[in-house]
Amino acid sequence: MKSNPILSHNVHLNRWVNKMAALCRPDQIHWVDGSRGEYNQLCDGMVKQGTLTRLNRKEWPGCFLARSDARDVARVEERTFICSLSQNAAGPTNNWMEPFAMRRKLRGLFQGCMAGRTMYVLAFSMGPVGSPMSQIGVQLTDSPYVVVSMRIMARIGRKVFALIDRDFKRVVPCMHSVGAPLGPGAKDVPWPCNDEKYIVHFPETREIWSYGSGYGGNALVGKKCFALRIASAMARDEGWLAEHMLILGVEDPRGEKTYVAAAFPSACGKTNFAMMIPPEPMKKKGWKVWTVGDDIAWIKPDAAGRLHAINPEAGFFGVAPGTSMRTNPNAMAALRKNTLFTNVALTDDGGVWWEGMTEQPPSHLVDWQGRDWTPALARETGALAAHPNARFTAPAAQCPTMDPDWEKPEGVPISAIIFGGRRATTLPLVYQTFNWSSGVYAGATMGSEMTAAAAGTVGKVRRDPMAMIPFCGYHMGDYFRHWINIQRRLKETPRIFNVNWFRKNGAGAYLWPGFSQNLRVLKWIVDRVRGRALGRETPIGWVPRYEDFDWDGLDFPREQFESLQEFDRASWRMEIIGQGELFFDLHDRLPKELVYERELLICRM
Ligand code: OXD
Ligand code: MN
Repeated sequence: MKSNPILSHNVHLNRWVNKMAALCRPDQIHWVDGSRGEYNQLCDGMVKQGTLTRLNRKEWPGCFLARSDARDVARVEERTFICSLSQNAAGPTNNWMEPFAMRRKLRGLFQGCMAGRTMYVLAFSMGPVGSPMSQIGVQLTDSPYVVVSMRIMARIGRKVFALIDRDFKRVVPCMHSVGAPLGPGAKDVPWPCNDEKYIVHFPETREIWSYGSGYGGNALVGKKCFALRIASAMARDEGWLAEHMLILGVEDPRGEKTYVAAAFPSACGKTNFAMMIPPEPMKKKGWKVWTVGDDIAWIKPDAAGRLHAINPEAGFFGVAPGTSMRTNPNAMAALRKNTLFTNVALTDDGGVWWEGMTEQPPSHLVDWQGRDWTPALARETGALAAHPNARFTAPAAQCPTMDPDWEKPEGVPISAIIFGGRRATTLPLVYQTFNWSSGVYAGATMGSEMTAAAAGTVGKVRRDPMAMIPFCGYHMGDYFRHWINIQRRLKETPRIFNVNWFRKNGAGAYLWPGFSQNLRVLKWIVDRVRGRALGRETPIGWVPRYEDFDWDGLDFPREQFESLQEFDRASWRMEIIGQGELFFDLHDRLPKELVYERELLICRM
């Protein structure tokens, strides 16, 4: 088969590439070297093909817009499978299919699926190349959009092949096809995909097969498929944690930096939190937030028994709508150049726009489906200019607050772990759990209220332990046990906190301003970690007193703070009953520590 120069002499890799080429029958093979020249060539090709539109080079240098097929705009959880040998190993929160049956199914789907296309051989490192905490994958894909996106989101190409050849590092094989073979002479579409989608993980053999979608969360397999689903199973086997967490460093006026990792379900503002700008008076005092990652953390005990974390990614795959100079100026700076936008709106001067980017929308746009859009039309029909899940894919290095140590091979030391969700009632702004196991309990019972998207369910709490329900590659009960066990390997245990930016008063108004004001909460967390702040004990944990916060520049009455922190026995009673539902499903594998934590909480109540 026609191929450009082969970039690895690893016999196993070459044998696998040839075997998969024989199955998928592409027209040619392209080994991805990861160079800028190759990236430019692929982008130019996609502009010709209609997949990408080049944006205004002056305002948006190196940026492109992709419009996806309208049926391929998000992760497909109902089509996502964990195919462990036994169903019980996958647990009740994952879709499962018997691995042999699934392999048969996949063989059928992949047979000839790349006809008329190029198969790219894409080697990638999750984590800095050569870091002892990094992992390597090779993705075979027929999507050039995936190749250029992966160049932003991971470290790819020659340097990774060199590592495979030199160190014989174990490689996770990842198959990906958009599932749209082209017959001889057939014309391609801008966004090929297939209505039948399968996002499949084999945790025992550490393999990924993704079929039918070009959307990031399904197709950039380094991210959710590898760095969370497969990595969580690796981490369980090897004694570390692969988590849906941001990582940030808080620098205090003494110049000391405290790193925290934080888990929030999707759409709770992880990217904004990771790139926070302190309120002006605190900034003047010397407070600063440094970004290490906005979505995924790999956390490992070091030789001294302290947890260290790396961000396995090299870019941000962020939700565009709602991102603005007001909500996240650092993200806005990061996406100003060399960024791929997907499903945002196009302005008349070749720029991009999305809901929330500016207060006043432009007077005319081309919407995410290529149709004319005006503010009047939006008022009349409610038509959105950008898809609500429109994304920017931007290099992390372009974010002004990237921590100088964000690519350190050994990672950064983690002193605190934060859990949080979107809760209108019950959960206070912040509390510190009593110890590791009560902290794991807080993470395991985490919930978030569903937003207006699903009619009739607004306000209903969905349990999403550690924000990992869609991403844990094995049984959630075993996952909790793994979290409990991790502490036995530690000499220094991070403190665990729970936060809630979204509590409301009786009239439905938010009690807390959020965004940069969240630094006041982070300050209390840092003070607690460093033994500088007192707390008040409640049945759920330690809470701050009004005077423990720095209120400089924020007029926030004591009574409002008391409402925000209120511990209400009646609602907590309902909360504990609600928490029991998930525990019921996981009961046969629930660690006894969590059962005891629940009992203790009830006793303290
Ligand atoms: C994401 C998600 O895309 O969590 O990061 O859905
Ligand atoms: Mn995420």
